[in-house]
Amino acid sequence: MVGGARRILSSVVASQLDTHAKYGGVVPELASREHLRAIVPVVAEALAQAGCGYSGLGAVAVTSGPGLVGSLLVGLTFAKALSFAHNLPLIAVNHIEGHIHAVMLEAESTGRPVEFPALALVVSGGHTHLFEVREGPHYRLLGKTRDDAAGEAFDKVAKLLGFGYPGGPVIDRLAPHGDPHAVRFTLARMKGNPLDFSFSGLKTAVLRWTQQRDLTAEIEARRALLRSNPRPSAEDWLAVTPPATLGLLASFQRTVIEELLRRASVCAGQIAARSLLVSGGVACNSGLRAAARALPLACPVHFPSPGLSTDNAAMIAAAAFGKLERGELSDYALMARANLPLA
Ligand code: KG4
Ligand code: ZN
Repeated sequence: MVGGARRILSSVVASQLDTHAKYGGVVPELASREHLRAIVPVVAEALAQAGCGYSGLGAVAVTSGPGLVGSLLVGLTFAKALSFAHNLPLIAVNHIEGHIHAVMLEAESTGRPVEFPALALVVSGGHTHLFEVREGPHYRLLGKTRDDAAGEAFDKVAKLLGFGYPGGPVIDRLAPHGDPHAVRFTLARMKGNPLDFSFSGLKTAVLRWTQQRDLTAEIEARRALLRSNPRPSAEDWLAVTPPATLGLLASFQRTVIEELLRRASVCAGQIAARSLLVSGGVACNSGLRAAARALPLACPVHFPSPGLSTDNAAMIAAAAFGKLERGELSDYALMARANLPLA
């Protein structure tokens, strides 16, 4: 990332999906080991692609939380060593703040900068949060999930039905082939803060739907498909997924999207938002993108491109940029915090 107009010089992502797919979800111990194995080659590749060496760096930004502590520790230890060895400022970034900055960075580079106050909907495998974002930047939490995150719900439903991990991309590809009104789910009503989310009831409703039918043969057919081909095409999946299950997937996805956008619309009105930012892995979802763009909102909606929606290092650098300018630096006592709050 370079100054003036912020711009990405390189963005290298080491995917662990193949490692975790076998287990149907992220295995924390394996995640730490993969981080340890990947961090040196990934940083070397990022510097090579950017055409600069360590001497070309102005600071080191690192995620200090929230997240899996083992993985955070690998990043923190490496960042501290880099900062010490090359005498570079160390900047701690909150992972959620990174997701929000991915949108701001890209909006800036496409000539449609984000206007404040903005409403940020961060939807990933670990988070479903609504924040008011004001210049500063200042963040105010308006709502969050009480149980599962939206991405986690996609992953659990996919796993239950034999679609493997991660679930979001598969359900996204198959949902357009099913009837989104085939199954009627009741929407969650929240006691306390009506802007909080809950996806565990929906997950249980999907479980109940599957228990009322004998899906053993189709689920086994999908598991067999995954064993023979870890990356099936949409056509491969369609060959082992009957219309009733496609209808379930489409209805599930429609319900998640409605839950997300209903609360986002209310929040946007309440804070008189001048931009709506949607980010995190679930922001890749094409149904969510289409529905958000069709909302009758008084402000524009910004999504990052898919590569900047899922986890990446460029978003952490983007969030660190302003901190460097404001002198918000960290020292070597910086700790990893699994539940680090933003705001
Ligand atoms: O932001 P991210 O890469 O990692 C976390 O911080 O969690 O998000 C990963 C999550 C997974 O739950 C994955 O299923 C979901 O994002 N995801 C999607 C799509 N692509 C990834 N969910 C719905 N539709 C997608 N196209
Ligand atoms: Zn993330």
